[in-house]
Amino acid sequence: MKIRNIRIQFEEYQEREHLNGNDRLLLEHAEEALEKAYAPYSEFRVGASVLLDNGELILGSNQENAAYPSGLCAERVALFHAKSKYPDSVIKAIAITAKSDHFEINHPVAPCGACRQVIAEAESRQNNEIRIIMKGNSGATHVVNGINNLLPLMFKEENLKRSKSKK
Ligand code: THU
Repeated sequence: MKIRNIRIQFEEYQEREHLNGNDRLLLEHAEEALEKAYAPYSEFRVGASVLLDNGELILGSNQENAAYPSGLCAERVALFHAKSKYPDSVIKAIAITAKSDHFEINHPVAPCGACRQVIAEAESRQNNEIRIIMKGNSGATHVVNGINNLLPLMFKEENLKRSKSKK
């Protein structure tokens, strides 16, 4: 038996002013997007903005449903919209933020497992890492370059390919 380690890395910015212009702009759009959330059940509003290589910005917010699992997270709303509108575009970055109607979110909001899986597939489809910018409604911002830093040991589409010995 061997213990193996995986190193992940993220950037931490205490002040919004320390972010680069692109990241700040993306966060501002994510903040704008969360105002359009439909979140009557959780009262937890999430906004996401996606930057494409063609310069387009696509926004998304969480969309809930009385049949709870039918709702969708802000990140997937934005990512699926982006890919359905511009299937050949490259996703450069996604910013994610959230606001609760009831409490302060003073730590960065990271995407849920299902959204991480969708970001992972977008990365391998385009063969390019995605910058992920995460913030609460106050406090620090965390940034990772590539989903590897949020979803190590991920399931990839190549897992679906048969090996030659077991045809
Ligand atoms: N939510 C998101 O939109 N993104 C995430 O990454 C985590 C959770 C939404 C789903 C649901 O509408 C609400 O936040 C509470 O879980």
